Amino acid sequence: APEPGPEVPATLDTLRKQAAGCTRCPLHCQATQTVFGEGPERAPLMVVGEQPGDREDLAGRPFVGPAGQLFDENLQAAGIERARTYVTNAVKHFKNEPRGKRRIHRTPNAGEIRQCRWWLGRELDLVRPKVVVAMGASALFALTDEKPRLADLRGQVLPLGTDRHLLVTVHPAYLLRLPDAGRQAEETRRFRQDLTLAHDWL
Ligand code: URA
Repeated sequence: APEPGPEVPATLDTLRKQAAGCTRCPLHCQATQTVFGEGPERAPLMVVGEQPGDREDLAGRPFVGPAGQLFDENLQAAGIERARTYVTNAVKHFKNEPRGKRRIHRTPNAGEIRQCRWWLGRELDLVRPKVVVAMGASALFALTDEKPRLADLRGQVLPLGTDRHLLVTVHPAYLLRLPDAGRQAEETRRFRQDLTLAHDWL
């Protein structure tokens, strides 16, 4: 596929096809495929994660693994239909650090997020969501180019550009990593509350 030029593709489908051949950063070398965003062309809500994990890399779809399942459950509990939501990631290739047979996910760095942001920008141009949910620090950085403490912004609705709102929340994988059942329940409740707030702003 040709290197994307400055002209913006007219449809998400064209954009997705371009992204399939993306070599903007070295991550494509280790990944199985580009995992592009998915959802309706004019979804009012866009949700941005970090990057595909092992399962997403193999499936070619965002949020289909364990974090995705938790995401789906809480989205539903917040009254949001995933089929009407555009779901994407800050970085579109799995960052794989092979360890023996295991494929270990590593957090993307600022340079990788900046390289990949071109795609996220085009997704925003074409989907034109009313509300964008940033799940985790990588998504927040991709959308704002700032690295504030997630805890300071979490659960708040902020302006994103002139006619869009940004809701900051945690990444669902964070909930999976909490060792304590009590904290897990509390953090899950807050995550759901954040998604409900995003829904209220639609
Ligand atoms: N984590 C993410 O940030 N995105 C996915 O698509 C899956 C897991």
